[in-house]
Amino acid sequence: MAESLIGTVALVTGASSGIGHAAARELAARGASVVITARRADRLEELAATIVASGGHALTLPADITRRDEAAGVVAATIAQLGRLDTVVNSAGVMFNGPTLAMPVDDWEAMVDLNLKGLMYVTKAALPHLLEGAATGPRGVTDLVNISSIAGRIVYEQCPIYCATKFAVNAFTEALRLEFTQRNLRVSVVDPGVTESELFSHLSPQVLIEYDEGFAAVEKLHAEDVAEAIASIVANPRRIAVNEVVIRPTDHK
Ligand SMILES: NC(=O)c1ccc[n+]([C@@H]2O[C@H](COP(=O)([O-])OP(=O)(O)OC[C@H]3O[C@@H](n4cnc5c(N)ncnc54)[C@H](OP(=O)(O)O)[C@@H]3O)[C@@H](O)[C@H]2O)c1
Repeated sequence: MAESLIGTVALVTGASSGIGHAAARELAARGASVVITARRADRLEELAATIVASGGHALTLPADITRRDEAAGVVAATIAQLGRLDTVVNSAGVMFNGPTLAMPVDDWEAMVDLNLKGLMYVTKAALPHLLEGAATGPRGVTDLVNISSIAGRIVYEQCPIYCATKFAVNAFTEALRLEFTQRNLRVSVVDPGVTESELFSHLSPQVLIEYDEGFAAVEKLHAEDVAEAIASIVANPRRIAVNEVVIRPTDHK
């Protein structure tokens, strides 16, 4: 059932590590030319070299997408250099959880700025090109895949702002889906549970200890597991729109 992505262009944010990194590799393996963005240019260059060595195509565009001009610049450079846009995977995100009274407002703002506003900036710039690609492209359909979280469906203690950003991503996604699905732009959200990545590296040492204890008995998802779910959404034929995927470790209630 899965279609080849040869001839398509996919932009992946948060591609320097974790889920975005794995999604870029998976989309490239399925034939897409991938545009990879994040702030760490060296990581992007390493990933591009890996993709090219496997016979794929990759373009690195380092950017801080919390800056509206840089987010729009990534989309503009994609169109300028590759001429089209068929898939956007919004994976960039940060998580700073812990006791609310001790949490700096700067950390709250960092989550809102990236998880919500950065994702919105990339989406706003990409939408006209995704709609154009759906109307004229090789597959008759294009995809916007937003990476949310289980925390976009269930609220957790000591997680007020991260949950708020992810609930907002789910609402944003569904509103866009309603508006654009009949123009052959599929808008989907993926809600992963705990996944091995660098996401937890931003937690304070004490909170990290509590997380590690809490998940000690859980076999965590690999970033590749989530990437496979993302790529499966994109590779579906035009008639199939998988709007939401919830993917949890089997051990996790
Ligand atoms: N891991 C989990 O358990 C889990 C569970 C549910 C949902 N998620 C969600 O999955 C998504 C990916 O997270 P992950 O687990 O893959 O974490 P990760 O390994 O920490 O990846 C986060 C990515 O975001 C990028 N990023 C951070 N700040 C940025 C900025 N200002 N501008 C551009 N890019 C920026 C990072 O690259 P640079 O630092 O190089 O910029 C990195 O590539 C996030 O939205 C996260 O909320 C993760």
